[in-house]
Amino acid sequence: MRERRPLEPRSDGGGHEETLPAGVERRSFEETDDRSRLATRGKPVYGEPTADGWRAWNPNRSKLGSMIALGMDHGLVGGETVLYLGAAAGTTVSHVADFAGPTYAVEFAARPARDLLEAAASRGRLLPLLKDARRPETYAHVVERDVDAVVQDVATRGQATVAVRNARFLADDGRLLLAVKARSEDVTADPEDVFERALDRLRERYEILETRPLEPYHGDHLGVVATPR
Ligand SMILES: C[S@@+](CC[C@H](N)C(=O)[O-])C[C@H]1O[C@@H](n2cnc3c(N)ncnc32)[C@H](O)[C@@H]1O
Repeated sequence: MRERRPLEPRSDGGGHEETLPAGVERRSFEETDDRSRLATRGKPVYGEPTADGWRAWNPNRSKLGSMIALGMDHGLVGGETVLYLGAAAGTTVSHVADFAGPTYAVEFAARPARDLLEAAASRGRLLPLLKDARRPETYAHVVERDVDAVVQDVATRGQATVAVRNARFLADDGRLLLAVKARSEDVTADPEDVFERALDRLRERYEILETRPLEPYHGDHLGVVATPR
């Protein structure tokens, strides 16, 4: 496991204090664009702008990107071992694998997984697993223990339960970086009630460190940072 080092907070110019893992920078991609954008180094995956080997990381298309852009206390330093749940076609997890160490990417739908394999082709640290995140016992023999971070974006019913079941992989001081989508749990319920229920379920296995709505990047989503208890 990577040793954690203190990070210097910086301002993104939008009023948020943010800390960026090593391997993530704010950069400009167009001469007319004076707002620097989050970026990692790697082969492009989803048509994102590139410059000098860097690729823009669009927080509107990435819950984790929005958590970083909003200045949440993600704890990522670069080089850590990550278990990513809900990898889809690899939009976000490809950025993670650009700056992290071994990055296990769990996705259960075959169609996006094909694109995920393509994103992994140029990333030796990205390890796709066509598995159901509700059944961690089916990949427990592959994923190493004591990972530094579990990143979760499954947008399906039972999101907190998925996080609880996968807590077994996290190091004692590791972090869960979770996006909870209210409508995936119950389209009719008040999102605040859905979030409270999810947090109650999470507390069975985690200490909640921070929560924050992911607006303006993602409506109806709560970002959660937690650590095992
Ligand atoms: C919102 S998308 C993820 C987007 C992705 N995290 C990104 O930013 O690039 C949710 C994904 O979770 C996957 N998913 C939902 N339930 C899952 C489960 N139980 N196991 C694995 N993947 C699951 C879906 O197939 C879908 O691809």
